[in-house]
Amino acid sequence: IVKKPIIVAIDGPAASGKSTTAKILAGRLGYTYIDTGAMFRSVTLRVIREGLLEALREDESRIAGVLQSITIGFRGDRVILDGEDVSEAIRENQVSREVSFISSLKPVRDKLKELQQEMGRKRGIVMDGRDIGTVIFPDAELKIFLVADPAERAKRRHAELSLKAGGAAVPSLEELEAEIVKRDKDDEERTHAPLRRHPDAVVVDTSKLTIDEQVGFVHDLVMKLVGQ
Ligand code: DC
Repeated sequence: IVKKPIIVAIDGPAASGKSTTAKILAGRLGYTYIDTGAMFRSVTLRVIREGLLEALREDESRIAGVLQSITIGFRGDRVILDGEDVSEAIRENQVSREVSFISSLKPVRDKLKELQQEMGRKRGIVMDGRDIGTVIFPDAELKIFLVADPAERAKRRHAELSLKAGGAAVPSLEELEAEIVKRDKDDEERTHAPLRRHPDAVVVDTSKLTIDEQVGFVHDLVMKLVGQ
């Protein structure tokens, strides 16, 4: 447990190990873990449920009503959207497919930025996403940028999906790798808050690291910073 509350910002592409690292690290530090991807997924789920997706593609301003009334929060590692636990629902395929589009919308990013900055106001958080070190908390005491080979990331996704599928069919490694490469490209090329490394961020390549090693590495950096 760490007494001094700092902000640890963890960014990087899909399946680079961000949420696994961030969650375990937060536990070790006694900090709050905030998964900002889950927040973008929650907005996406609400848009899908309201049947607003197609209208939004034509007219982005139609998102306003959703953003005015939405509440997103965390209870431990459960994600709560408008009072409902949506931790499983936000991982469904349709949400995964549409979240890049929803997260490219400026009003969505502005709204979540406000919520995320409020969540970190007292510091003592580990926040993971794509723009935490660059846009949300450029003053974070520690910024980490996690990377891993696309093939390795596809393998991890495959293992994760296979575990959840319990014998049912899952996409092939090739399909998953193609999906990952496409999502990286979308996230890097969008206009608002693209995935980019802050110049101060420490790059950690997790391709050949175990979870223990990657958490340990970041944990050591935190300990040096807080002087414990
Ligand atoms: O980390 P994830 O796969 O759950 O994130 C889902 C999507 O949300 C991802 O395609 C990019 C977007 N995202 C974002 O634009 N900014 C963040 N801070 C976090 C996620």
